[in-house]
Amino acid sequence: MAATNLTTMVPKSPELARFTIRKAVRADADAAWDIRRAAVMSECTSAYPLDQLEQWTGGTASRAFPDAVEERFLVATVGEHVAGTGMIDLTTGKIDAIFVHPAYMKRGIGVAMMRHLETLARLQGLRELKLDSTLNAAPFYRSLGFEGNQIAQYHSPRGLTMDCVPMTKRLD
Ligand SMILES: CC(C)(COP(=O)(O)OP(=O)(O)OC[C@H]1O[C@@H](n2cnc3c(N)ncnc32)[C@H](O)[C@@H]1OP(=O)(O)O)[C@@H](O)C(=O)NCCC(=O)NCCS
Repeated sequence: MAATNLTTMVPKSPELARFTIRKAVRADADAAWDIRRAAVMSECTSAYPLDQLEQWTGGTASRAFPDAVEERFLVATVGEHVAGTGMIDLTTGKIDAIFVHPAYMKRGIGVAMMRHLETLARLQGLRELKLDSTLNAAPFYRSLGFEGNQIAQYHSPRGLTMDCVPMTKRLD
């Protein structure tokens, strides 16, 4: 994946809003794991039972997680802090791991990460993006041009089954 850095200034809160998107390194794995849990526990509790979210995000990361972060993740950073994550499989166009830490939400980081991943996909010549959205985040993805309304079952690597909304975006 391209190791492009993108620095963005969001006008809404210029004193805090400068962030950079870069390829993740192995040392980002702990922060990525913590952000995933914090983001889910902040935003998904209205859409899923708490015990399901605990099962999804609780405990410690698998041994494979640092490998996945190093190989496939991008991170958004604010100063020295990792503020958000995202990843795309450039063979399939599947986007995953879109999480922003609650302390950094609503500053444009989620949108910037999505636009960055879309740019990588276009550079790769992909024709379509796809993702499985949480029930709470589907409006966010719709605002970025993704389509999909049907609720389906997401099967997590830990064997958990939970509702999701499969969504796609054509890149014509
Ligand atoms: C969804 C998420 C990534 C958005 O990150 P973010 O950095 O806060 O988003 P941004 O600041 O870039 O938001 C940009 C716009 O989307 C809107 N938005 C953010 N989350 C939204 C949501 N869940 N539903 C509808 N709109 C949303 C913002 O209000 C903002 O709109 P505005 O510019 O008109 O005010 C973040 O809320 C998150 O991590 N959620 C919990 C985890 C999750 O469910 N992730 C999706 C996994 S599939």
